[in-house]
Amino acid sequence: MKRLTVPAIRQRKQGGLTVEPIVMLTAYTARQAQLLDPHCDILLVGDSLGQVIYGLPSSVPVTLDLMTAHGAAVVRGSYHSVVIVDMPFGTYEASPEQAFASAARLLKETSCAGIKLEGGEAMAPTVAFLTERGIPVMGHVGLTPQAVNVLGGYNARGRSEAEAAKIVRDAQALADAGAFAIVVEGVVEPIAVAVTEAVPCPVIGIGGSARCDGQVLVTEDMLGMFERVPRFVKRYEAIGDIISGAAARYAAEVRSRTFPGIEQTYQPK
Ligand code: KIV
Ligand code: NA
Repeated sequence: MKRLTVPAIRQRKQGGLTVEPIVMLTAYTARQAQLLDPHCDILLVGDSLGQVIYGLPSSVPVTLDLMTAHGAAVVRGSYHSVVIVDMPFGTYEASPEQAFASAARLLKETSCAGIKLEGGEAMAPTVAFLTERGIPVMGHVGLTPQAVNVLGGYNARGRSEAEAAKIVRDAQALADAGAFAIVVEGVVEPIAVAVTEAVPCPVIGIGGSARCDGQVLVTEDMLGMFERVPRFVKRYEAIGDIISGAAARYAAEVRSRTFPGIEQTYQPK
């Protein structure tokens, strides 16, 4: 099967809501990508790997080196999905030129199909600059986790009329600038629907609405790897419990010298 392309994703939306919703999950490693790839349209190498893999308090400290290493691993582990890599905080906001240098490094060193960056109207000139120079851009509006120090937390956005209108304007500015898709995160449902209706490109929700053009979740969240997850996460499995259970049984068998058993030991001929 040939790998999906950015234009194919963009074309999923033709006027109204996508007929075939876009399926997106995060992936950070090659093996995880292999398992998710057949079921997804897009694999996102999210800067959420800062918290999920590295135990950081937010995505703010994540570096371009980290995104490059994990992005390359996910591309190597997939053959079907479009791989998009997050631009980490501090590598694109200063100028379109700074963004281009960072994004070009991601494309060259990971072979990803495009990048994602956070921000609305303020980032529109950068989105146009990159798109016109051959770098597909996915936007990200609403709750933008890299702005946690300005927002003061991870609460849902768009509760006031002014905030709601600003989020719609942000999405419109990104779409006008050429974004091929936009993530809308952590907004009250009517705003997710308003954004989806306002822009011609696909809108992918997380903490949004079923009436977006697609959905994304952090894979570890939906697998049940964490005790505390946002309200918008649905847990499809309880993998955390499975891992602790296996570790507990292994520990008990090592302590009772019942592992390794006959099947796991080499015997002389
Ligand atoms: O970093 C991430 O995982 C993301 C998604 C949640 C959209 O940006
Ligand atoms: Na992100």
